[in-house]
Amino acid sequence: MNHLLSIKDLSQAQLVDLLSLAKEIKANPKQYQNALAGKSVVMLFEKPSLRTRVSFDIGINKLGGHCLYLDQQNGALGKREPVSDFAANISCWADAIVARTFAHSTIEGLAEHGSVPVINALSDMYHPCQGLADFLTLSEQFDDLSKVNLAYVGDGNNVTHSLMYGAAILGVNLTVICPQGHFPDGQVVVEAQALAAKHGGKLVLSSDINDIANHDAIYTDTWISMGDNADLADIKAKFGPYQVNSELMQQAGANFFMHCLPAYRGVEVTADVVDGEGSLILHQAENRMHAQNAVLVTLLAD
Ligand code: CP
Ligand code: NVA
Repeated sequence: MNHLLSIKDLSQAQLVDLLSLAKEIKANPKQYQNALAGKSVVMLFEKPSLRTRVSFDIGINKLGGHCLYLDQQNGALGKREPVSDFAANISCWADAIVARTFAHSTIEGLAEHGSVPVINALSDMYHPCQGLADFLTLSEQFDDLSKVNLAYVGDGNNVTHSLMYGAAILGVNLTVICPQGHFPDGQVVVEAQALAAKHGGKLVLSSDINDIANHDAIYTDTWISMGDNADLADIKAKFGPYQVNSELMQQAGANFFMHCLPAYRGVEVTADVVDGEGSLILHQAENRMHAQNAVLVTLLAD
């Protein structure tokens, strides 16, 4: 493992190892307090962030490393100087690059032109760190992930893609329910279905909200992602039946609710569900740090 650009690049063994290392670091943080001693990580963010930025910064600190945050006062990466120069220059000083970008190709460019590991902190295509934290969270609730029935409801987006790859590689049964026209990327669907078949999981796509029956957990995300210019009124009209509310949770028979956050209460999810007893949102948020620390230790520790 040289980078973390997408969960699809991980073998099942690598993904299982990352989750078990994350659990180990979470349980025994002191044993890892010098794992990144003397190492510096540059964080490049083209988009806003709370969880990703803070969990990387504090996580790196807990591993004894140092991080430097660069926002894009000068506009998107590649405007003032090429992405290739960014990557080559940062590689002179830093031991890794964490990047949140609009285009996934920017992250690929950093990996191609730099000489240090690159970690995708969200692009238009993928959110692998979120996916890792989500499966870590599920594995804390269920002993056997291959028996879990997870449903993702809403917009087929970067978070959906990473969940699809993660579920497929781990053999988790995943149903993705989206309005027509808002399905996940076609190539991701094909690749994830092939991985699911290989690992004994099931990936079902549907636009029929009644397919929600018989799921252990329902996951949703914002209906409008960063960088999307969709009109909220149009989207609300189209996505209304896909809101996660207590009736939908009941129809699914789901005990757990998941969301990567930020959540828009009264839009993709009602407040009683997102703030309710079965909501795993703060476990997911906490696990961002432990999952990312497992990635950092795997990529960087001596
Ligand atoms: N879930 C997530 O990535 O949150 P941020 O956008 O706040 O980093
Ligand atoms: N799909 C969302 C995730 C935010 C963490 C976005 O890209 O804005």
